[in-house]
Amino acid sequence: MRARLERYSVEYYVQDAPSLPDTEYDQLFRRLQELEAQWPALIDPTSVTQRVGAKPAKSFASVAHQQPMLSLNNAFTDEDVLSFDRRIREMLEPALVSQNQSALQVEYCAELKFDGLAVNLRYENGEFVQAATRGDGAQGEDVSINIRTVKAIPLRLLNRSSESGDTTADAAVHWPESVEIRGEVLMYKKDFQALNERQRAANEKEFVNPRNAAAGSLRQLDPAVTVSRPLRFFAYGIGRWSSTQIEEPTQHAALLDWLARSGFPVSPLRRTLLGAQQLLDFYREANQQRAQLPFDIDGVVYKVNQRSWHDLLGYVARAPRFAVAHKFPPEEALTELLAIDIQVGRTGALTPVARLKPVFVGGTTVSNATLHNEDEIRSKDIRVGDTVIVRRAGDVIPEVVQAILERRPEGAAVFELPRRCPVCGSSVLRQADEAISRCMGGLFCKAQRKQALVHFASRRAMDIEGMGEKLVDRLVELEWLKTPADLYRLDEARLADLDRFGEKSAKNLLAAIELSKSRSLARLIFGLGIRHVGEEVARQLAREYGSMANLIAEDWAERQRLKQVIVKDNLRRRKESNVALPEVPLPDSALFAVPLLGIGPEITESLAHFFAEPSNQAVLEDLEALGVNLPSQQVAASIHPANPSSAQSTVQTTSLHGLAGKTFVLTGTLPTLGRDEAADRLRRVGANVTGSVSRKTDYVVAGEAAGSKLERAQALGIQIIDEDTLLRLLGEVT
Ligand code: IVH
Repeated sequence: MRARLERYSVEYYVQDAPSLPDTEYDQLFRRLQELEAQWPALIDPTSVTQRVGAKPAKSFASVAHQQPMLSLNNAFTDEDVLSFDRRIREMLEPALVSQNQSALQVEYCAELKFDGLAVNLRYENGEFVQAATRGDGAQGEDVSINIRTVKAIPLRLLNRSSESGDTTADAAVHWPESVEIRGEVLMYKKDFQALNERQRAANEKEFVNPRNAAAGSLRQLDPAVTVSRPLRFFAYGIGRWSSTQIEEPTQHAALLDWLARSGFPVSPLRRTLLGAQQLLDFYREANQQRAQLPFDIDGVVYKVNQRSWHDLLGYVARAPRFAVAHKFPPEEALTELLAIDIQVGRTGALTPVARLKPVFVGGTTVSNATLHNEDEIRSKDIRVGDTVIVRRAGDVIPEVVQAILERRPEGAAVFELPRRCPVCGSSVLRQADEAISRCMGGLFCKAQRKQALVHFASRRAMDIEGMGEKLVDRLVELEWLKTPADLYRLDEARLADLDRFGEKSAKNLLAAIELSKSRSLARLIFGLGIRHVGEEVARQLAREYGSMANLIAEDWAERQRLKQVIVKDNLRRRKESNVALPEVPLPDSALFAVPLLGIGPEITESLAHFFAEPSNQAVLEDLEALGVNLPSQQVAASIHPANPSSAQSTVQTTSLHGLAGKTFVLTGTLPTLGRDEAADRLRRVGANVTGSVSRKTDYVVAGEAAGSKLERAQALGIQIIDEDTLLRLLGEVT
């Protein structure tokens, strides 16, 4: 059992390829614990069950390393790497010449530089005996008990043959009598986030980054705490190797392979390379993979592959000449928080933005960073004037991680989100279930208006070339633009008089605006920026309503009510009759010509709000009066705008209540049509017919003896109809 459990543990923590579900592992583990409790004499200190159990310590004992733990010199630029390589070639030249080799290109082993903390693990005859932190390099702290809890560290070295992949410990193999394994303890990024979430929930202090979390966890006096912290380990070298029988590997790459075979995780990206140029290529490759790796790295390490040359090259202070750490630009830096500004978004969302004293981080100069929302600032207790840690990882937006409380200036005030919009002075509202506060000013708010206009003119909406952020900004400030309709009232002569504008620009702009009048209804709807109405919903609305006039004329409250009634009615009938044939009365009102089935209650509510607002109605009337999306163009442009080949069915579908694009599921026996015939007819009008019911299903057509699909449709609140209704929808029965 021990061997099996150990094998599974290696599969999980070392090879990242578990072959057993976690629950089964746990069962097996508990069974072994029981057996060991029953026969304590049989307990083996290297058993997987022996990773925890010690009592908290008062302090850590001091341990002398058998061979000192050195540090690495850093290289920051390509030039640094070239001179590292040049120095090595110069120093090795005599040795190489004596071996009749040229020193033109040195062979290196390149690997990742893990951002954690160094530990030294001592194994005697293959058994883990002691672990120590790096300390001052000569002496560290004894963290053996905590290291035992790290499941990626084998308590007994394995003998995993490279070919068979067999991971069982083999008693016949001799290990070096004593060996020091060197490597890095760290925490995976996702484990770090989960840990911080738990800390937050428990009102405990959060960790700044995975490295601090790993260090804090390893230097815990109570091993029960450490075991709850998901620590990992990667081996990158050895200290003293003492053995009368087994030779240590002569190449560093072979040493890494030996470490891997012995059961240690090693750098997943490692390569034997020739010459400096290949080192630089490796650096770029690793930097590209950096964001996708499950753990943090702060660079790569190059080591002369031939280990016998290491001592030959010698040491400078506490760092060897045979290796160098080529560092990535740091992702975190300290700077001062100068101010917290509030930005108002298109939907009125108030976002606090940190204005920072410019700082070089993650390869660029950063002077703004996101603070997410009010709660975040509160929970992190970030105040203007603070010295803060700024983080910029990869291409992610820079963020303020933490304030350094020790450096807080006196009188720094707690941040308060303003009660009124900083742009327009309207009230600010925060819905109970939302983290975001919003300005209620709508288009009255210049910030919202500007962005609404930018959105309206954007490429995917009305596509007005030249009407970008800067120009919108100017025209709004001039009060020339109050609503999207004002775009169509712009005056060429006045535009041409604008500073840095000129006649030609004015002409081009007006031509672009004129062109936008013929955009499809779908684009116009999308451009209005109605909450929850994205491009897809806009297309659907355009298809089903055909004109802005129809959309305005819709009784949205009634639509909402009807929808609920039908769903409820269906459910009631089902319950009462227990027959699988629900009848849905179709009101002959125009409402049912446009069923809007794929549009959920949230969107419907948003549409209702939008169209109920007199100022919005006024804008729409203005747009129409100004010739935007003329009715004659609407139908042709809005239906299947991107699919001219379906023109034939278009004619039908418009007259057939817009079933095109709707998704149907047929179930049970349909009395006259049969399922195949029904499916055929639906497909002919452009509807989809699928086999299973999901949230994407618009209609379920239920016949006699319909079963689970019908139940699922009811559970999901999908509209259920019978064959008769289907025929009516198809326009075949009047
Ligand atoms: S080799 C004599 N390889 O970086 C050379 N170190 O800045 C010993 N580190 O203390 C170190 N990844 O904690 C080596 N692949 C790697 C490493 C690595 C991370 C750490 C290690 C060392 C520090 C030096």
